[in-house]
Amino acid sequence: MKIYVVYDSEGEHTKALAHSIAEGAGKVKGAEVFIDHVDQADIYKLPEMDAIIWGCPGHFGTISSGLKSWIDRLGYLWAEGKLINKVGAVFCTTATTHGGLEATMLNLITPMLHQGMILVGLPGNIPENALYGSYYGVGITCPVESTELLSREGIELGKALGERVANVTKAFTNQPSGDEN
Ligand SMILES: Cc1cc2nc3c(=O)[nH]c(=O)nc-3n(C[C@H](O)[C@H](O)[C@H](O)COP(=O)(O)O)c2cc1C
Repeated sequence: MKIYVVYDSEGEHTKALAHSIAEGAGKVKGAEVFIDHVDQADIYKLPEMDAIIWGCPGHFGTISSGLKSWIDRLGYLWAEGKLINKVGAVFCTTATTHGGLEATMLNLITPMLHQGMILVGLPGNIPENALYGSYYGVGITCPVESTELLSREGIELGKALGERVANVTKAFTNQPSGDEN
């Protein structure tokens, strides 16, 4: 199964989160994971993917213009129904705790639903999620005064989302276990 992680990032916080998601997805046997900054992300690759995970920094509570411009190029895929039943999930970072993480994730989810994708969030039985996370995907606060790009909890939640998407995709697409690879 093929999983594509697409991210926008100027200061590399969201890039670090994207890479932790890709790492988590890659732990699942049979997963082939691709990851691109939105400037390099190829919309023509999307029809061959089984799952698409996209994310960005929150800009005033919504999708960054870089990722939104890219999403707005997916109209032909909508017209042809090419993304129907692809598994989808979202992620974002913001600078402040109440700076619009969940609003940004809900905005990231909306175009996936329009495309007919099957959304995967993150449940509360993941310890880091119960304490620090969100059910809409992974949204991490990256304070400007911090010296680290991404907190330990952020890395763990990213891996958890990637792994969950890969496991759900495997079940949804009836993929072989991967043991024979
Ligand atoms: C135009 C713009 C708008 C932003 N709006 C918000 C905001 O509303 N709330 C917030 O907490 N951070 C906001 N930020 C900060 C970024 O979301 C935050 O620093 C993010 O972690 C940057 O991710 P990156 O390092 O991947 O670029 C904004 C940044 C920019 C450039």
